[in-house]
Amino acid sequence: MAQQETEQLTRILIGAALSRAVTSIAELGVADLIQAGQPQPVEHLASATKTHEPSLYRILRFMAGHGLFQETENRQFDHTPLSAALRSDAPGSYRAAAQMFFHISAAWDGLHHSIQTGEPGFNKVFGAPIFEYIPTHPELGPVFDAGMTSMNFYETSAMLEAYDFTGIRVLADIGGGNGSLISAVLSRYPNMTGMLFDLGHVVGRAKENVKTAGLAGRCRVIEGSFFETIPAGADAYLFRHIIHDWTDEQSIQILGHCRKVIPAHGKLLIVDCVVPTGNAPSLSKDMDITMLTFPGGQERTEAQFRSLLKASGFELTSITPTTSMVSVVEAKPAQG
Ligand SMILES: C[S@@+](CC[C@H](N)C(=O)[O-])C[C@H]1O[C@@H](n2cnc3c(N)ncnc32)[C@H](O)[C@@H]1O
Repeated sequence: MAQQETEQLTRILIGAALSRAVTSIAELGVADLIQAGQPQPVEHLASATKTHEPSLYRILRFMAGHGLFQETENRQFDHTPLSAALRSDAPGSYRAAAQMFFHISAAWDGLHHSIQTGEPGFNKVFGAPIFEYIPTHPELGPVFDAGMTSMNFYETSAMLEAYDFTGIRVLADIGGGNGSLISAVLSRYPNMTGMLFDLGHVVGRAKENVKTAGLAGRCRVIEGSFFETIPAGADAYLFRHIIHDWTDEQSIQILGHCRKVIPAHGKLLIVDCVVPTGNAPSLSKDMDITMLTFPGGQERTEAQFRSLLKASGFELTSITPTTSMVSVVEAKPAQG
């Protein structure tokens, strides 16, 4: 084995350090203390975040080697585009996404368990499935919602650019989280009305956000579990980052409830990654391992979507790629 390979493997073996450093720096709010073009001394960054100055310096120097922050001179740090994205006020800020991982990334310790058993590593580390754990830790709910909004920020506009919602009168956003997606769609389509459906501990925040967006009169917020029911009355049902959270068996249950209420002319819209075939790197494959380890779901290939939809009483009609990692997988109820 050449030295080059051993060095590459060394970087991979300690790669967790970079991920942990980014989440920790985001939680501490270090990026907020620096305005691009105005480098700050590490003494100031350490005193403002109540951290150990020599260690903070070493972490920032390490991160700078990976394109986050840059040491300009004598222990002063400025932003790079990557670190600037961790500022709370950056357009499409990624701070909340990094903070979400700060709170739950211990689940990666369960990856080995996932490989051995197929069960989510999260359950082994945290003692409960992620969507049962969050409601019992109320401080995590807003962190998770904000993390999702942050991670999916560019997906919403990419989806709206790529997919034409014209003709849909009532859109139901199932597992709609804090309402940022349904609010964006309703704002773009003024004649559409909406429904948002999510668990009890989420809908309070969704109601507030829909109200703040001035859409309370056009969007009903409904509490419930998609393992029990899905509300009737929409002509399109949107599931963004929902089906990838679950196994095929669970997804068939969820989509089966949708099949019961969707009208014959209705549309099912699944917004998730579609995993390409072949060895090329794809963010969808990274997301797939995240789904394996955290909720216990999976990202799917086109062939897997076709068979999942068929088993749930639907027929795939189109796949619309977007400029982000997700595609809009459209299906209609299968007849007969
Ligand atoms: C990965 S987040 C996606 C949120 C949102 N669709 C988005 O794209 O930002 C998954 C969502 O599913 C919701 N959820 C989980 N289990 C659910 C259930 N049994 N019934 C309804 N919603 C559920 C969660 O509360 C969360 O809002």
